[in-house]
This record gives sequence, structure tokens and C-alpha cells, in this order.
Amino acid sequence: MGNAVEFVKINKYFPGVHVLKDISFTVKEGEVHALLGENGAGKSTLLNILHGVYTEYEGSVLLHEKKVSFKNPNDAILNGKISKVHQETMVVEDLTVGQNVTLGYEPRKGTFIDFGRMNREVDAILEELNCNFRSADLVSSLTAGGKQMLAIAKALFHHSTIISLDEPTASLTMRETEALFQVIEKLRKDGVTVLYVSHRLEEIFQICDRATILRDGEYIETLDVKGTTREELIHSMVGRSVAAVASRLKPSPKTDEVVLKVEHLSNEHDFHDINFELHKGEILGFFGLVGAGRTEIMRTIMGVDQKTGGTVTLKGEEIKGSWNSTKALKKGIGLLPEDRKTQGFMNLSMNYDNIAISSLGKYMKGPFVDESKKIKNAERYFEEMDVHPRRVDYLTKNMSGGNQQKVILARWMSTDVDIIIFDEPTKGVDVAAKAEIYRLMEELVAEGKSLIVVSSELPEAMGISDRIIVMSEGRITAELESNVDFETDSILDFAIGGK
Ligand SMILES: Nc1ncnc2c1ncn2[C@@H]1O[C@H](COP(=O)(O)OP(=O)(O)OP(=O)(O)O)[C@@H](O)[C@H]1O
Ligand SMILES: [Mg+2]
Repeated sequence: MGNAVEFVKINKYFPGVHVLKDISFTVKEGEVHALLGENGAGKSTLLNILHGVYTEYEGSVLLHEKKVSFKNPNDAILNGKISKVHQETMVVEDLTVGQNVTLGYEPRKGTFIDFGRMNREVDAILEELNCNFRSADLVSSLTAGGKQMLAIAKALFHHSTIISLDEPTASLTMRETEALFQVIEKLRKDGVTVLYVSHRLEEIFQICDRATILRDGEYIETLDVKGTTREELIHSMVGRSVAAVASRLKPSPKTDEVVLKVEHLSNEHDFHDINFELHKGEILGFFGLVGAGRTEIMRTIMGVDQKTGGTVTLKGEEIKGSWNSTKALKKGIGLLPEDRKTQGFMNLSMNYDNIAISSLGKYMKGPFVDESKKIKNAERYFEEMDVHPRRVDYLTKNMSGGNQQKVILARWMSTDVDIIIFDEPTKGVDVAAKAEIYRLMEELVAEGKSLIVVSSELPEAMGISDRIIVMSEGRITAELESNVDFETDSILDFAIGGK
């Protein structure tokens, strides 16, 4: 088999940074090839070069042995038969699935769009992909997983021979992930080449043939996944040994004092009769599968969503009347939401300002803001979480996905609130940085703060929590104590159906 992709001495510069350094390697036709590396290693940048998002770079890209240079991603799809499935796929919500798949290339009868043919052609692809939606359905009715399938359908509609997926499973349910993997398996059988980026290493072992590792913009090696261990992959990515599963080092100073008490809390659709207590100085994990109702509970506690029943008692005082996140913050409780895009950072602000915006009082010197205090605070977190580039004066929007997540975490770790809810705090964060984030959380509880950590990753929930509350389909199915009851199989059982 020939080469599907060949990178030859690729160099890429952004103002002041050299992000890809002489990258050369090949991807074989029909293989599933992983692209691995720590946050900021250059994975997304390399894919953006491949797909014509960035047109300025040194070196060359060959597809099926021919040198290419695309003007933009659309040019790449049409003339290179190469498609990209983004994590947050771009779709037009108000159009149908078929219209999105064929956008700009709708089958026509004379000057009119031939909707009959459009739906027949698109349905045939959707059927092949085993999708449970159809061409005539509105995109707004699809889940995150459905939208990714739509992007793959679009790639197939344009007969793509190379498809890349950049962290596709981060917001997918277990079932959607399974479905995606089956599709990837099918594509491989049909000879399609797949490039795959993920920080979930178990996925690499499940679906990839070979893996290329980048570190700090440099090519390290390409290896067969079979015959390589998880530890070896991590060592290659990080350049040193790191525990494959991060966990707590210090016991927390948990006390009997209850800082948050939730009783019989319900809303109409997402959760029912929720009861739990959060103690001062503990880390309480909330584990469940995507869609179990955990995010909705946290939003309700913060007053972002409304409850239909039950009570929330904060530091001994029942919350009554109108309640919103501003009031919640004043009372000392904050939430780091799941989606970094919507809760985001200020687009035109530098890292140190984005970190400081939830704790401005801390940086005052008399009536003035002392910028140097902000910078010092940010530098500390950059050091501890190993943020790349180590530039607190960088625009946050120019940071890699995982490093943006670290900036947002630093903001919440800097606040004065004493109860912090972290919803999927390490989404998109590499294995090495996770351990550092857990250290910082330990520090917060050592200072007497109380944390709730919502996570869909079991090793994380088990590694970080003093207690775990397990949820399934809107209900609490178990409450477990660390050391005593933590056991992988039984926690998964509780998350799936609750025995
Ligand atoms: N538009 C930009 N301007 C300046 N620097 C940028 C820009 N885009 C990316 N970078 C820098 O390029 C480097 C590589 O980023 P890239 O997004 O490729 O990393 P990544 O490997 O995908 O990381 P992650 O796992 O966090 O997604 C980072 O240091 C990032 O800050
Ligand atoms: Mg990336």
C-alpha cells in the first residue's frame, strides 16, 4: 500500500513562536493513525496545515504521493478528497441534515434543488453509517454525537479518502463513542485513511494501528500501537515517566461541617429526588455517563436553571426566592462549567487578565489594580500546570485547546469562593497535566475549601475523590467512600443502571 499522507520538513511559525519544527512522517493508505502529544505539542496545527486552514508554512504535504497546497478547507474537500471532523462541528442548525451534508453541492433538477434525490443519496450514506436520524431531520434535533456523524456523512458524500478527527469523543456518550468506533472500523475496511487525535489513551489502543508522537513541536517517533504499552506512549509524549493514572497524594482535611446540603432536589426532565451533603474540606466526586443529569444539578444549585422541587441549603441557610449565579458567587459558591466555549474567556484578553477576572479584589493596591500582582498570580499557575507556551501575556484564544482549559481552571482556583464546582475539569487536558491539576485541588481543600468534581472519566473520579456519588439517568444510584468502596466494576454498574 502507498502513502496517503506524507509530511516533509514542515515548519510553522506564529508571531514569536516556532510551533512545528521540521516535522516529517508518513501515514499509510487505509490505516487509522493516531497523532499524540501533550497540550500545545502542535497536533491541531499540523491538521490545520493538512486541511488548508493554514496556508502559510514551510515544507510540503503530499497526498497519495502528489504534492498539494490547498487554499482553504473546502478546496481540500473538493480537490484533495480530504475532510476534517471538528470537535464542535460547524453546522447550520436551521437546515436539514441533507441540506447540511450537501451544502453548496445540492443535487439539482434544472435550477431547482432536487430534494428527493438529495434525501435518497444522503439517507443511503446515513444508513451505511448506522445513524438513527435521516436526511429530512432538522440538525437542531441532533445530539453532539449525531452532529459528528453528520460531518462524517459529509466527508463520504464528497468521497473523501482521508478523514481526520480532532478529539472527537470528548462530549460523546458511551454509546455514541461505540457507534463512532464502528464507523471508523468500517472506513478502514473500505480503505479510507483516518487520522485520530485524542488524550484518552485507551481509545488509541482500541482503534489505532500506528501512532506518531509530537513533543513541543518536534517529531519524536512513529510506532505500532500493538506491542506498545500505555506507559511507553506516555513516556514518549512527555519525555519522562509519569504515573499513567493520576491520583491523590494527601488525604483531605474533611470535617463534619456541612457547607452544602441538597434535599429532594428535582427538575422536570433531568433529575429526580437528589439528596447529598458536601463537607468542608472534602472533594466530592460526581460520576456518571454523559447525560446522567449531573451538569443540570450543578446549574440548578447555582441558580442558572430552575428547580421544580426540593431545597438547597448553603452554609446553614436555605436558599429562597430568586437565585442566580451572581448571588451564588457572593455567597461563596462558584461553578466552572463544562463547555469552555460558552462560559469562555474574554476573547481579546491576555492569559493573566482572563485568570484574574473572577478575583479582581485580590490585585488591588489602594484604589488601583496592580497588574504585576495579576501577572505573578498567573505565573504561579502556569508553572504548576505546565502551561505551554509559558506566556501569561499571550492571548488566550491563541492557546491550544488543552492549555485554554488550564487558563480557565487557574481562574477558578484563584477565586475567593470557598465552594467550587468543577464540571469536567480536565476535558482535553493531557495525562501529565492532570496530575498537576489534582495537586492544585488538594491544595484548595487543604486551605479549607470544599470541592465538587463532576467527571465522566472513572479513573479521574476514583483518583481525585474522597467520596463518589454515582448517577444514572437522573437519579443517584450509589454513594461510595474512598478506600472502602471504590471498585471499578461496581461503580460502572451503578452508572449504567444502578444495581
Ligand atoms: N493563532 C495562533 N497564534 C499564536 N500561537 C498559536 C496559534 N494557534 C496555535 N498557537 C500555538 O501553537 C502551539 C500548538 O498548538 P496546537 O493547538 O497545535 O496544540 P495541540 O497539540 O493541538 O494541543 P491540545 O492538546 O491542547 O489541543 C501552541 O503553543 C499554541 O499556543
Ligand atoms: Mg488541539
